[in-house]
Amino acid sequence: MARRGRSAEPRGSALYEVIKGVDFERRELLEKPAGVGLFDLVREPDGSYRCYACTLCERTCPVDCIEIDYCPEHEELPFDVEAEKAAIAAAQPEVDRSRFDAVIARIREGSGLIEALHATQEAYGWLPRKALEDIAAEMHLPFSRVYGVASFYTQFRLEPVGRHVISVCMGTACHVAGAPLVAEAFSQALEVPVGGTSDDLAFTLQTVNCIGACALAPAVRLDDSETFGRVTPDEARRIVRRLRKREED
Ligand code: SF4
Ligand code: FES
Repeated sequence: MARRGRSAEPRGSALYEVIKGVDFERRELLEKPAGVGLFDLVREPDGSYRCYACTLCERTCPVDCIEIDYCPEHEELPFDVEAEKAAIAAAQPEVDRSRFDAVIARIREGSGLIEALHATQEAYGWLPRKALEDIAAEMHLPFSRVYGVASFYTQFRLEPVGRHVISVCMGTACHVAGAPLVAEAFSQALEVPVGGTSDDLAFTLQTVNCIGACALAPAVRLDDSETFGRVTPDEARRIVRRLRKREED
């Protein structure tokens, strides 16, 4: 839990002693009086600390600002967080760095953060983490600030997107006309969960709200170019077969 504007915890205090054991970037927190959120550890009614170093917060913090390195209750921490993070980093798709040069050039010409994010998404179709890190370094911003903006706006994608985006409308008219079955049929035919992207980056399947084609319910959009109306599960499977064929040609 971070609270803005707190002063640093004095050496020798109870919290200082805890932070010595549970390392929340302690040098930053204890020696910087302002500008850094200070974590506070909650106590149970019996006085013990609620945190038991499960490392969940470290593993889920999207900007890597927490590091748990010690807990007197465990001989070793329950998860190898470093190994997990290395595996996640290794699973990131390769990105062509040369496409990022234009973004850096625009930042050096004075473009703002939102503009840089748009330019990055134009270059890759999504926002690779490495690109966000480079934007943060180039703009002298904390990575958490850049990530916070990128994750706030829904038009920015933090995951790779397929060459084709299939959007199944789940608005009321489409929903009552059978859109959930259509989405399920797409999902099975593509072997991709709703919200996911195929491994070959060919297809992204998503659901959206009313796309303004209620008379055609259930409606499906393909990219920003085609709308299919009165789609049945069979028709969904046929669409996937046609798209796969188009991809192969
Ligand atoms: S290590 Fe686990 S218990 Fe401790 S603060 Fe993080 S999530 Fe909570
Ligand atoms: S509810 Fe689907 S197009 Fe309107």
